[in-house]
Amino acid sequence: MNRRTFILSGLALAAVRASKAATSSVATTSRVEIIPDDTIGVISPNIYGHFTEHLGGCIYDGIWVGENSPVPNVGGIRKALVDAMRRLKPPVIRWPGGCFADSYNWRDGVGPRAGRPRRTNFWAASEYLAKGPDGPQKYDPNHFGTNEFVRFCRLAGAEPYLAANVRSAPARDFYEWIEYCNSPAGSTTLADLRAAGGEREPLNVGYWGVGNESWGCGGAFTGDEYAIEYRRFVEWVPRFATPLHFIASGPNGSDSAWTRTFMTKLTEKGRSGLRNLYGLALHYYAGSAGKRSATDFTPAEWYEMLVKAVRMDELIRSHWQILGEVDTSHQVKLIVDEWGAWHETADVAPNFLFGYFPSMRDALVSGLTLDIFNRHADKVAMANAAQLINNIHSSFMASGDKFVTTPIFHVFEMYAAHQGGTSVRTEISSPRLSDAAAKGLYALAGSCSLQGKRAVLTITNADHANAIETEIAVRGAQISDVRATVLKSADIRAHNTFEDTKAVEPVAAPVGGGGPQLVYSFAPASVTRLEFTVA
Ligand code: AHR
Repeated sequence: MNRRTFILSGLALAAVRASKAATSSVATTSRVEIIPDDTIGVISPNIYGHFTEHLGGCIYDGIWVGENSPVPNVGGIRKALVDAMRRLKPPVIRWPGGCFADSYNWRDGVGPRAGRPRRTNFWAASEYLAKGPDGPQKYDPNHFGTNEFVRFCRLAGAEPYLAANVRSAPARDFYEWIEYCNSPAGSTTLADLRAAGGEREPLNVGYWGVGNESWGCGGAFTGDEYAIEYRRFVEWVPRFATPLHFIASGPNGSDSAWTRTFMTKLTEKGRSGLRNLYGLALHYYAGSAGKRSATDFTPAEWYEMLVKAVRMDELIRSHWQILGEVDTSHQVKLIVDEWGAWHETADVAPNFLFGYFPSMRDALVSGLTLDIFNRHADKVAMANAAQLINNIHSSFMASGDKFVTTPIFHVFEMYAAHQGGTSVRTEISSPRLSDAAAKGLYALAGSCSLQGKRAVLTITNADHANAIETEIAVRGAQISDVRATVLKSADIRAHNTFEDTKAVEPVAAPVGGGGPQLVYSFAPASVTRLEFTVA
């Protein structure tokens, strides 16, 4: 059967089964075909990156508790977080913003901690924080600065990615921050300043964001205006042993005109304009509707959110196509350095803006999005979930000595097995969901990667009511030695809390069978990882 015939027969099957699923909870047969010879690209580990900002409880009381805190810490950094993060194999962490970055003076956060200034946080005037008590979320004591951030990255095993200030600082501050971070021990006055803060050797920061959301809080630039700023910032910087990767900030979601204008202006003097552009950073959040609650939503709102999440696929395709109009050899990659499901309610602690306990719905958003990135391994070089802890799409929640991993954490841990694998074409046919709010979304989505003979197949089942029985085949090969890890709950609103830390946890089990095809039933509202040998 050729590929087209297979897809068509799969869709026909799906259509028949879809009508059944609409009226009953009878299991439905679907099909996944993995095509190992049709490779997409190596999955950059950096796709599994994180983002941290001085926003709400992310830095203070999230990552940073301080050296004298009764909360167990490593040099002021929450120990429970570091220990749990290592399980995720985090490749890269972005900091200090977000919108905060374009108000941040990196000099405020270096040198002896006791002498650092307190500054009004970018988010202090937000409605929620304005109502809350004063504290580090409103008036930043700068106890967590460049050295502390890089130490946190080292403890977690990640590379640092710094976002520089373009809106309110000159280009000189940018290149001096590079000198501060990367100049050899004893070579410059800024290297001495770094040493005074406890870091004699270079911090070796290789990823540099030139501003954040330059179209909005980062300066409200048009694509043209930002291209001029960008050129000025990267035209000369001091270079040391660590190679530098510059990342341009923009566009907002589907704003393809912005991408086109930026790229055209940047290259108006020729292709050399691309010399200092490693990637173009897109931001996209799936915003919740209705009550905008993370944990109180209807089945229709479950689907609404998932439909928004899968828009990521179209955004990647459209911006990639526009990049290719100018950068025909696709030297410039896409970076999605902020993504996630964004709810409104903050219910964890005073001052924890956008701090809520993510649910199974957010786990599905994570699986759907990471699978999209894997399927676009040739285009996406880095992505950073926003944000790591206590904020928006969090893998962790913490307050004082309380700490919990969320369903998002579990998805990241399950999907870490894809890092560095080769993404291969995977055809999935499954029923369209009958709920009007699902807008024709298919029940199953996923991605597959190979490392030698070992395959990792991750699949989300968006159908919250029906298990989906599925035939899985690898073209031209046999399947054996199958293991499943499944994250699921009978309640789509299920989430972990400080009191109930294991309400949502993955379950691992060997799976019998194999051979030319495997039959597996994907649980309703679940994220599944299947690992097997292909030979
Ligand atoms: O992640 C929260 C905010 O969302 C960031 O500060 C900003 O870049 C985006 O709009």
